[in-house]
Amino acid sequence: PAPGWSIDADVVVVGSGVAGLTAALRCEAAGLTTVVVTKAHLDDGSTRWAQGGIAAALGDGDTPEQHLDDTLVAGAGMCDEGAVRILVTEGPDAVRRLISTGAHFDTDADGDIELTREGGHHRRRIAHAGGDATGAEISRALVEAALARGVRMIENALVLDLLTDAEGRTAGVTLHVMGEGQHDGVGAVHAPAVVLATGGMGQVFSATTNPSVSTGDGVALALRAGAEVSDLEFVQFHPTVLFLGADAEGQQPLVSEAVRGEGAHLVDADGVRFMVGQHELAELAPRDIVAKGIMRRMQEQDAEHMFLDARHFGAAMWEHRFPTILAACRAHGIDPVTEPIPIAPAAHYASGGVRTDARGRTTVPGLYACGEVACTGVHGANRLASNSLLEGLVYAERIVADITARHAEDRLHARVPVPVPHPGRPAHPLQAAEARFAIQRIMTDGAGVLRSDESLTRAAEQLQRLHRDARDALDENGKTAEPGVDTWEATNLLCVARVLVEAALRRQETRGCHWRLDHADRDDTAWRRHIVVRLNPDRS
Ligand code: SIN
Repeated sequence: PAPGWSIDADVVVVGSGVAGLTAALRCEAAGLTTVVVTKAHLDDGSTRWAQGGIAAALGDGDTPEQHLDDTLVAGAGMCDEGAVRILVTEGPDAVRRLISTGAHFDTDADGDIELTREGGHHRRRIAHAGGDATGAEISRALVEAALARGVRMIENALVLDLLTDAEGRTAGVTLHVMGEGQHDGVGAVHAPAVVLATGGMGQVFSATTNPSVSTGDGVALALRAGAEVSDLEFVQFHPTVLFLGADAEGQQPLVSEAVRGEGAHLVDADGVRFMVGQHELAELAPRDIVAKGIMRRMQEQDAEHMFLDARHFGAAMWEHRFPTILAACRAHGIDPVTEPIPIAPAAHYASGGVRTDARGRTTVPGLYACGEVACTGVHGANRLASNSLLEGLVYAERIVADITARHAEDRLHARVPVPVPHPGRPAHPLQAAEARFAIQRIMTDGAGVLRSDESLTRAAEQLQRLHRDARDALDENGKTAEPGVDTWEATNLLCVARVLVEAALRRQETRGCHWRLDHADRDDTAWRRHIVVRLNPDRS
């Protein structure tokens, strides 16, 4: 079917987490006509699930310079120092503006923001809300503010592809919308600026802390549009995810690093604190080091999981400080007040993404990326804990500054609606919905925490087969899976999985959260460089 509807705007923001809603609120405040489109409901993305908090140099004696140092160390030699400097220097004020927008953080008896520690931070630097429900509070505040200010929002709107004009400049996006009245079915928002804030791609693996909507839609869209993507091999596995069985699939409950920040111990089946002696910060070493420590001990003991022991907190502290985690553990029959919590690493965060500059601009004019979907260079090979919400805030504001400046200079080209291709009948093959599970299994087996040339080559071949079968069906008899959310999600997952595996195969070293069994060391001579991928539009 031809697109049934279209809207004109100055800016379309794709996604409604911390990055998307911050961008939308600031665009609206700057007088730009803004439309937010989001795949499910406004608060269904990853932001709501963030527990530990948001890192910023807010405490006495702390400085952006110290935050910078910790971020660079965690990033294992791959951060863009300029991008990190922006993050840490603009971060404290961005958090204060978030508070003015309506977010409430936990405070101490004097009314000062209470700060905790997490892995890789040498100071108490993490602001939190509701104990361990920071993301939920930020999401609540931003959604309420956006609704109060009348930001136009379309829910259940799956973004399909970028629209570009004859000069290759951004002209909007096509969407598949379900159940939203006048904007139902396939349509388009025409806008000269598009902000991708679609979050991550954790669903590319079987077990992840990410919600089911995290299917790499923004990275896949950017790849199809010919934008550059960088560092996809650096998938962060969170060390402490509640272990629900080796076959557990889908979103798994997180046990925040802040639990370790407040003094919980990682122990093996014999009760031994195995991180002590492995790193000066022991359990609070950067996340990749702790995840590796856990995996190594699991291998040594042929165990499926390790334990996080915080019985010494006592019931009152658990209830006050970590109510969300306490409830999640108890819902699964584990009482952290009286027993150690079984944990294992699971996929958590894409440190790479759509490559941007310091103003959030991608390599396609008019296309911006912000938050987990972006690769600004602040995370390097391993994101420092609680820098993600901060990145969403800081870089959303920078993007809006750039769009506003372009708008003021009238460099946002005239909104001449470009012809919309038939997104209901894609030129590239769509995967069947069930392919999602095949992709997750292939990726978990071949490109998970432990990788090798053999495992990655196997994964690449299996993924290529899925792609080829769908392409052959389209070429031979014009058949492709029925366009819909689940088939587009499976297609996007396959697209990002293939690029991720390709990058992981190429990087023949172990660095940050990329762990190659066959190249055990970091190789600064050959590999202190980024793997940047740009697809030919017809390859996707
Ligand atoms: C956590 O609370 O452990 C997650 C924090 C993060 O991913 O930055």
